[in-house]
Amino acid sequence: MQMETRTRRLRSTDAVRRLTRETRVSADALVYPLFVREGHGIIEPLPSMDNQTRYSADTVAQGVESALSAGVRSFLLFGLPEKKDAVGSGAYAVDGVVQQALRNLKQAFADDAYLITDVCLCEYTDHGHCGLIKGQQVDNDSTLPLLAATAVSHAEAGADMVAPSGMMDKTVSSLRSALDDNGFLHIPIMSYAAKYASAFYGPFRDAAGSAPQFGDRKAYQMDYHNSREAIRRIQADIDEGADLIIVKPALPCLDIINQAADWFNLPIAAYSVSGEYAMVKAAASAGLIDEYKVMCESAIAVWRAGANILISYFASPLAVAISKGDIG
Ligand code: PBG
Repeated sequence: MQMETRTRRLRSTDAVRRLTRETRVSADALVYPLFVREGHGIIEPLPSMDNQTRYSADTVAQGVESALSAGVRSFLLFGLPEKKDAVGSGAYAVDGVVQQALRNLKQAFADDAYLITDVCLCEYTDHGHCGLIKGQQVDNDSTLPLLAATAVSHAEAGADMVAPSGMMDKTVSSLRSALDDNGFLHIPIMSYAAKYASAFYGPFRDAAGSAPQFGDRKAYQMDYHNSREAIRRIQADIDEGADLIIVKPALPCLDIINQAADWFNLPIAAYSVSGEYAMVKAAASAGLIDEYKVMCESAIAVWRAGANILISYFASPLAVAISKGDIG
């Protein structure tokens, strides 16, 4: 006779499986990254990221519109300027690409789309590093005022939240005081607190043309051998005033997400990065895996680990999967 254990009884039908799911998710917890480049009328595929699109500031509303119709409400904007320079001036230019995109999107969607901006210099510097260079080193302290100016210019253009990703020490406190001084006390900071120096960012760097021209980011991004360091860095960012924290990449950091969820009582976002996306796409197009099922399983793994928010290039299909009840 077949033995009916408690777990067997609770998974014997689709109805009881859905009734007793431990991990519940909503499309409200998804964030979709969008790339905005300089120019007009541009809607072009991203060569390194299958099925992702690069827009100009005047077309990016179309990308937002289609994600909104899938059920995604929050967006993370990255800018790709025409000209890069040593000080990343495109990042904090009043008419920079992200600033233009923000104005257009606020006009088109008002509060229907929640707009988060990446605050970093690497997409805007000709050397591709996240901060100013002195000699062969990234200079932490002289970078901070530029990051603060970037965050303020985003808020002025309509950003709802800023997300500093450059991993310079004291970024969060610099941004917080600059935002407060300029009347943006209500703008939350989502800090990339635990960001590993990861090979999984490769397709993003191709898309953003932001690969470092010399050296690497190991001086300011974290060594993946370390987990206690992640807790220390998250704590430091919280002490400086971070409202939400990001762990990145996602699948290689499920342990970090899990520990962060145990240690801290503010919202934790996991960023499922470009390389994670590209691997699923490549394996699926080689006929090796079922893209939809792997996408669903990977996303739930991140939430199950303890993340509250998932930043993903699969945001739209995930929102659809949630609405169909396949996950969530
Ligand atoms: C900028 C930044 C990067 C990513 C997000 N913000 C690149 C990097 O640190 O090199 C990576 C995102 C992705 O791979 O999807 N500092």
